[in-house]
Amino acid sequence: MRSTVPRLSRYLTDADLMASLASDVRHGLSQMPKALPPKYFYDARGSELFERITRLPEYYPTRAEHAILTAYADDIARRAGADTLLELGSGSSTKTRLLLDGMRATGRLHGYVPVDVSESALRGALEALLRDYPGVRMHGVVADFERHLHLLPTEGSRLVAFLGGTIGNFPPEPRARFLAALRANLHDGDRLLLGTDLVKDPHRLVLAYDDSARVTADFNRNVLRVINQSLDGDFMPEAFEHVAIWDPHQEWIEMRLRSATDQSARINGLDLVVDFAAGEEMRTEISAKFRPDGVEKELAAAGLTLEAWWTDPPGDFALSLSRPA
Ligand code: AVJ
Repeated sequence: MRSTVPRLSRYLTDADLMASLASDVRHGLSQMPKALPPKYFYDARGSELFERITRLPEYYPTRAEHAILTAYADDIARRAGADTLLELGSGSSTKTRLLLDGMRATGRLHGYVPVDVSESALRGALEALLRDYPGVRMHGVVADFERHLHLLPTEGSRLVAFLGGTIGNFPPEPRARFLAALRANLHDGDRLLLGTDLVKDPHRLVLAYDDSARVTADFNRNVLRVINQSLDGDFMPEAFEHVAIWDPHQEWIEMRLRSATDQSARINGLDLVVDFAAGEEMRTEISAKFRPDGVEKELAAAGLTLEAWWTDPPGDFALSLSRPA
């Protein structure tokens, strides 16, 4: 039988997203220093800007990860031995095809379960994949993988993929909690495929987050547009400068927005006025970079045993395969 209609489960509504945006923004803007969580970059415009980032000459992670998957997807699929690919934060699902092809080559590809907060991204990706992978069960899940891991489908023996280096957006403690929660939801025989960007020349790292075409600057300021639109705010995005710095102690890139002048923003939806001093910086994202032994240690601390490790030829990015210890 050919499946032509993707199944879709929703654990997250637009109202839920709105409520978490409201509380995160209220909380983040009343902190000192102010901070906003990176997950709100990705409305339609932000997702489009991120797609452009992935094609920038300075932004190597996407190309590096793609190169690894091109070279090793068969190897990954063989070692994982899974029949179902569950992808966390699947977005536009471009790298997915490489993994699905590798799994199909093992002769036991049964299902694909993309998980994303964006229902439109899921529908778009699933529609295209359904055509090219007839007979593969597709089950999209609209969910926040920080909150809904325990609700994800458990059919089949699963390869759970968390790609792109998005794990680096978590600060260390939430990251440890997230990996432990992931581990707790894996069954014997399941595998985790984790994408991690690696520590390298700080100059290259900073350029990857401060490109000459200023796409990343626009992406960074987009979080203010999201607040304006969703919470009836009056931020002037152009009155904030894009900052990307390498923190050598934490080994992460930090993106900030720096207020160009003394200014205030009204957020009507929160009944809140926020003041910014000239030069004041607000953190909008961390993107942690990893060392191989650090990844292995963090996996072990979460109850996961590292089984295999792949990098691109220059060693910029890594994929690790691990299993419940
Ligand atoms: C999608 C989270 C992996 O941290 O490199 C790209 C997001 N931010 N440029 C990253 C991002 C600025 C990206 N991740």
